[in-house]
Amino acid sequence: MTRTVRSAVTGVGGYLPDNVVTNEDLAKIVDTTDAWIVERTGIRRRHKAGPDQLTSDLAVEAARKALAAAGRTPADVDLIVVATTTPDLTFPATAAIVQRKLGVPVCPAFDVQAVCSGFVYALSVADGFVARGHARCALVIGAEEMTRLLDYTDRGTCVLFGDGAGAVVVEPVEGEGTTADRGLLGFALRCDGGKTDLLYVDGGPASTGHVGHLRMVGNQVFRHAVVNISEAIEAASRAAGVEIKDIDWFIPHQANQRILQGVADRLGIDETKVVSTVADHANTSAASIPLAWAAAVEDGRVKPGDLLVLEAMGGGLTWGACTLRL
Ligand code: COA
Repeated sequence: MTRTVRSAVTGVGGYLPDNVVTNEDLAKIVDTTDAWIVERTGIRRRHKAGPDQLTSDLAVEAARKALAAAGRTPADVDLIVVATTTPDLTFPATAAIVQRKLGVPVCPAFDVQAVCSGFVYALSVADGFVARGHARCALVIGAEEMTRLLDYTDRGTCVLFGDGAGAVVVEPVEGEGTTADRGLLGFALRCDGGKTDLLYVDGGPASTGHVGHLRMVGNQVFRHAVVNISEAIEAASRAAGVEIKDIDWFIPHQANQRILQGVADRLGIDETKVVSTVADHANTSAASIPLAWAAAVEDGRVKPGDLLVLEAMGGGLTWGACTLRL
């Protein structure tokens, strides 16, 4: 029988900065209430990086935990892909800075920019390297300081986002080529650049020369979310050859409880299978999936052998899903 090499996730880790900002804290600086934020989003609090803490610092903490979980050290790493929309600097890539801070030997290291969908995109890039034998120990990190992009006079956006990082280690494993194999089994990645105006940052090196602030037409983003995400999950599961009823854990991007519940309802995924950290983390963009994943591994819900589906949607608009067996 022909053996198949797949890319498998062998370790997961998450890191949140210590400082917690509650809805009540925000209600002191912008016209909002805890009740409004909880009812419309499910968010109760978010973490905010300290003034001297960089995105790469959060990434390094998460990466160390993921490497420890995989039984690997920085010396083993031969690929770093960082998904971020809030890099330390315009260049070099945050991945290069993470490489230096972790002490990883010379290897490919670069960032992926697909905003909140960045982690799913980055995972598919690492899958390309690992499954083809071009890397044997890849670090895939989602790391964000979204609070640096917020306009704290805009109540429609400043209550929604937080900071954090999550990381996974991806390594080759041999399988039989069936859906019982460990590994990344199916992806669906999408972008509709016709919808850039719905969610963007109003600055950048080539336009204003400044970083800018996050702008969003929230109700229109909401309208696209459930349908688009559901389609991507169905496509990723078809590509994997599995049925949605067989999924053990649904680990969505943590933008809004109503969106992730809406997707679960549309696809008939029982709410007991949904990993939700939105109340405590808010939307940490590319970090949200690995952060939620790490929390569910830490508390013993997600175990080796489980079939997982990850999904995200963000600026671009980008969206996507990945079906995998741990
Ligand atoms: N506190 C109190 N009121 C607020 C508010 C806040 N933080 N933010 C907006 N409002 C008000 C608006 O000003 C508006 O008031 P008006 O009717 O007097 O003009 C009213 O609430 C309704 O605004 P709307 O934007 O239509 O609300 P909504 O029900 O769509 O909820 C979001 C707003 C942002 C929570 C919701 O649209 C959403 O979650 N969208 C998706 C966002 C998302 O997840 N984006 C990231 C994807 S990665």
